[in-house]
Amino acid sequence: MSKRIVITGSNRGIGFEIARQLAVLGHEIIFTARNTSKGLEAEKQLADYDVHFFQLDLEEPESIETFVHALGRHADHVDVLINNAAILKDSDYHLRNLPMEVLDRMLQVNLKGPILLTQLLLPYLLKSIDPRIVNLSSGMGALSSMGGGYPAYRISKTALNSFTAILASEQPKIKVNSVCPGWVRTDMGGANASRSVERGAETAVWLATEPAISTGKFFRDKRVIDW
Ligand SMILES: NC(=O)c1ccc[n+]([C@@H]2O[C@H](COP(=O)([O-])OP(=O)(O)OC[C@H]3O[C@@H](n4cnc5c(N)ncnc54)[C@H](OP(=O)(O)O)[C@@H]3O)[C@@H](O)[C@H]2O)c1
Repeated sequence: MSKRIVITGSNRGIGFEIARQLAVLGHEIIFTARNTSKGLEAEKQLADYDVHFFQLDLEEPESIETFVHALGRHADHVDVLINNAAILKDSDYHLRNLPMEVLDRMLQVNLKGPILLTQLLLPYLLKSIDPRIVNLSSGMGALSSMGGGYPAYRISKTALNSFTAILASEQPKIKVNSVCPGWVRTDMGGANASRSVERGAETAVWLATEPAISTGKFFRDKRVIDW
């Protein structure tokens, strides 16, 4: 059965590949990007499928609200929300010298934006017979193997994992999970990363579509990993 799936940051990287794989499987894709021309350009590559572009900038609460209103004119429910978009702007810093404005911006895009979007989409998700949320996290946010460097990115992903666990506990009807895609060759992962974008998208696609999955867990390669 076709699902209606919202994906943030669909225009490139893992988000685009998740959108492509799910569109090929016959699902309806709500394809979002912060930049309209980049989003429409990327959406053209999926013109043969059921894909609808909407502008959505997670840095701007107003953009999130405008998106949900526009979506409400297009659809009465949402089956899956994939919180994919994120930024990594702290590669030059350690915790001792992390500027607060860098931390604020990364928490807005990687954590607060996804939380607000999820809050506003909850009424739509709760109308689905099998609602799901997939949060693109990272092993860099796992407390069980925490290291140094990238402090804001790590903190944002640890907090995103908390969001996963809290919402899974509060909303038993919705399957809410985090996924680490591995180290993937995208603009964020860089050219030396060990994984293809196809492999990086695989477990998120599986969490969105596999009939029987658990909730409130952290996955990599379709297996539960430690928080
Ligand atoms: N690549 C890896 O090795 C790796 C490893 C672990 C986890 N992850 C996670 O996987 C997810 C996807 O990563 P990626 O490698 O595909 O990253 P990417 O290549 O840098 O792509 C990031 C996407 O997020 C979008 N984005 C950035 N800021 C946004 C905003 N304010 N509002 C809406 N969209 C915004 C970008 O849009 P623009 O084109 O407009 O910038 C782009 O579409 C992220 O959550 C990342 O943390 C990646």
